[in-house]
Amino acid sequence: MEQTLVIFKPCTIQRGLFGQITDRFERKGLLLAGIKMLWLTDSILDDHYSHLKDKPFFGRIKASMEISPVIVMCWEGIEAVSVVRNLVGPTNGREAQSGTIRGDFSMSVQENIIHASDSLESAAIELKRFFEPHELFKYEMLLLSNLYASDEIV
Ligand code: PPS
Repeated sequence: MEQTLVIFKPCTIQRGLFGQITDRFERKGLLLAGIKMLWLTDSILDDHYSHLKDKPFFGRIKASMEISPVIVMCWEGIEAVSVVRNLVGPTNGREAQSGTIRGDFSMSVQENIIHASDSLESAAIELKRFFEPHELFKYEMLLLSNLYASDEIV
């Protein structure tokens, strides 16, 4: 099973969308392996957005992520990285299709509800950045046989 990192951005908490957005992941059939609320700092954001450090919006996106607390989650499932990216939709909320999280809840490139890991490699790095090993829970999803065929479960 793959695991992936999701960050509910401050805009999402501020707009009171925590429940509605979490519902999208739950009803898809993903397993919640970890969750916590935290206030992001400059140093963790320098690390998290290091690939954007030369972009003109680097300071602005960092400021937006520090404005109030975020909620980080680890979601698990078969091909969870791409499943979550598809649920979330493309970066620009204005261009995201209806039915995706950004398509239904965002009008912005920056205030786009959620950050989701873009590959298995970045998921591993990002999960390590936000979670200690003991904060990620291994447990059996009792509905597994209702969610997957037996040959899909590894
Ligand atoms: S993605 O979804 O991460 O692959 O998208 P990407 O295009 O690589 O964008 C990475 C993050 O940069 C933010 N972004 C911007 N913020 C403000 N202004 C502009 N113009 C802009 N363009 C991209 C975008 O919200 C992505 O944030 P995260 O937290 O990674 O979703």
